[in-house]
Amino acid sequence: LDALPVETADYIVVGSGIAGLYTAIKAAEHGKVILLTKKGLGDTNTDHAQGGIAAVFDQEEDSPELHKADTLAAGAGLCDLEAVEVLVTEGPERVKELIAMGADFDRTEGGHISLTREGAHSRRRILHARGDATGEEIQRTLTRQVKREQKIDRRENHFVVDLLVWDERCRGVLAYDEQDQLRCFLGKFVVLATGGGGRLYRNTTNPEVATGDGFAIAYRAGAAVMDMEFVQFHPTALMVPGAAFFLISEAVRGEGAYLRNHKGERFMIHYHPLAELAPRDVVARAIVQELLKSGEDHVYLDLRHLTPDRVRQRFPKITATCRRFGLDLATDLIPVAPAAHYFMGGIKTDINGATTLPGLYACGETACVGVHGANRLASNSLLDGLVFGGRIVEATRGQLETVVLPRDLPELELRRSEQVLSRPLPEMVEELQEIMWQHVGLVRTAAGLKAALARIEAGKKDLSGPLQGRDACQTANMYWTAGLVAQAALIRTESRGGHYRSDYPFTDDAHWLKRVVLKYDGGQE
Ligand code: SIN
Repeated sequence: LDALPVETADYIVVGSGIAGLYTAIKAAEHGKVILLTKKGLGDTNTDHAQGGIAAVFDQEEDSPELHKADTLAAGAGLCDLEAVEVLVTEGPERVKELIAMGADFDRTEGGHISLTREGAHSRRRILHARGDATGEEIQRTLTRQVKREQKIDRRENHFVVDLLVWDERCRGVLAYDEQDQLRCFLGKFVVLATGGGGRLYRNTTNPEVATGDGFAIAYRAGAAVMDMEFVQFHPTALMVPGAAFFLISEAVRGEGAYLRNHKGERFMIHYHPLAELAPRDVVARAIVQELLKSGEDHVYLDLRHLTPDRVRQRFPKITATCRRFGLDLATDLIPVAPAAHYFMGGIKTDINGATTLPGLYACGETACVGVHGANRLASNSLLDGLVFGGRIVEATRGQLETVVLPRDLPELELRRSEQVLSRPLPEMVEELQEIMWQHVGLVRTAAGLKAALARIEAGKKDLSGPLQGRDACQTANMYWTAGLVAQAALIRTESRGGHYRSDYPFTDDAHWLKRVVLKYDGGQE
């Protein structure tokens, strides 16, 4: 390791979605930042977000109290109250900062911010941009701002292999650079904003970068992870061959779309008083029930009762994608099915983003501060990235003078070197995605989870020797993260929010109003 090139900064930020970019921008007000991202700056889940960002902008009809109540209700008893209060009270200010940076959210004819509704929100409070391209607008705004900052050193195509930890503090990261050479980046504070792990599943709305790297590298370094069993499945991904599970925003249902089964029935009215606008986990499981009954692989979104021009204007991106597959969003029935969408759990943090490993911070989807509980309220995720990313900088900037930047590396053992794998990596990835979909997906059982864990452990073993190359590291991360989800899902012997066990179909408040926390050196805390 001594011979490797070493670079230093006050903050090492990993990830370039909303959480990473915003944290880097705030950190650059106080010190030097190295921003690492494993592909291009814009290859993020944020860029794909459609529906929007939830924040209280309507002072007459809405309030932070109502936003809190909706977040807590969706979270099914497991939200951290303090974290939710921080989210809903600080959220609007952070969104105003985005607007000041140039984010152009859609407005009404009167010039007010236009607000839509999504599942389980009691008010219209979702800001959106260019109809259904909210993520693109936020990504564009923050990327432009990052490029303006002299103090942010941007490194694209840098893949973080592991955290560097010595004297019980995280002091940096080991990464492959764009030439696939290993390098060390040392900092006073390391921030992981590496997003989620939808790609662990066969069917997902996530782009290919979402392989759960942050959960795996933090866990291996000794940081605790929490709530890993809670994976959110979006009810409505486009289910046509070649569409790669393109997301059909929940805002489509927010604007009045119906869900229909193969008999043409509006089935959601039989499952929940809020019908199509019930919480996501309820809608996704209801669809699974309908699919089990019909033997089909999709249900339909129906917008035919809405005004066609208004539909096409409100959802230009979805309209264009549907058109590519020969479908008219406004006049055709649109085939949809649930797909893995968001990890509620992640690296355990306090409300300032501090993990259990000193020197290591986390924000965005890769972190778990407890705002989402067992099921995230729609459009709270972009807000989460902003609010808690900003808090990391607020909490650490006062320590920049006192934390000493390491200059020399101690003798650390480099785990990785040449190894021939017994199976090709793409085959291992596909096998994992299938296992996760079958056994660690929408409906779980002890037997299925145990079978999944056995195969995940075998895969981890295949990948555990010394390895070379970012693809092998990434595949190993997928297996490590999959193991955490399956392990936590096996431990939680009840059903709640995004975690459904058909062998324990009921919510068990008497035993399970608590969280599953996993640490590398042992099981449950
Ligand atoms: C959507 O547009 O339905 C996704 C929004 C979210 O995941 O919060």
